[in-house]
Amino acid sequence: MSPQVESGSRHYWDRTWSRFLRHQGMIAPSAKLIQQLIPHLRRNDWVLDLGCGEGRNTIYLSRIGYQSVGLDLSRKAVQVLANNLFEEEVRAVGMVGDARRLPFRAAVFDGLVAHHLFDHLDGKGFEAAFAEARRVLRPGGVMLLTMGSFGHLRADAHVACRDDGSLVFTAGPNKGMLVRPFEAAPLHDLEAQGWDVLKDELTPRGSKIMVLRRRDSSGPAAV
Ligand SMILES: C[S@@+](CC[C@H](N)C(=O)[O-])C[C@H]1O[C@@H](n2cnc3c(N)ncnc32)[C@H](O)[C@@H]1O
Repeated sequence: MSPQVESGSRHYWDRTWSRFLRHQGMIAPSAKLIQQLIPHLRRNDWVLDLGCGEGRNTIYLSRIGYQSVGLDLSRKAVQVLANNLFEEEVRAVGMVGDARRLPFRAAVFDGLVAHHLFDHLDGKGFEAAFAEARRVLRPGGVMLLTMGSFGHLRADAHVACRDDGSLVFTAGPNKGMLVRPFEAAPLHDLEAQGWDVLKDELTPRGSKIMVLRRRDSSGPAAV
């Protein structure tokens, strides 16, 4: 990301989560979505909520019996998460960190949730974060991801289109926010990148939901 886009995006998320700090209270977790991970995990497994925001899903993951870690680039988001953990009397780890350079050793997580995280990264950021997600998952570990389509934004007068397919708001209340539609992301041929595709669906509103299992090797499955 260019330094200008990077800092615009950081400011956007800090502004957004600062409002939550004042507002208090959480959005409902993505409970139905997270059900999709349950058949692939055991009680007390470690699950990373990547780009956790205020931590609604981090808290939900803890409540249903996992050891959860919420990580977000926005310091404000992690402050809101800490406050929510206190209010809700739930134990989970919250930390500031960058999905593109994760501060974890390899193969330490059994599961990973990336709910609308990869669609807020540019092309290079997506590649780095996707590789990092695979690195921190153990072989056999499972990632649940969602990404938006954002087709309607192309016509928005406040949106600039970039070469890697990402769109950046240049004015208005969303100024600084970067989105990259899933259609621009290299989500084809994931088998060759060492993933088994367990689910690949579109929601009625056009978002993509995928459940991917990390294979041991990065080659195609043996037949
Ligand atoms: C659309 S919000 C989703 C929040 C949360 N997953 C949820 O579903 O409630 C995207 C989040 O990704 C975070 N984010 C953006 N870039 C990031 C990065 N490089 N590393 C970690 N988090 C990032 C933002 O700060 C924001 O909290």
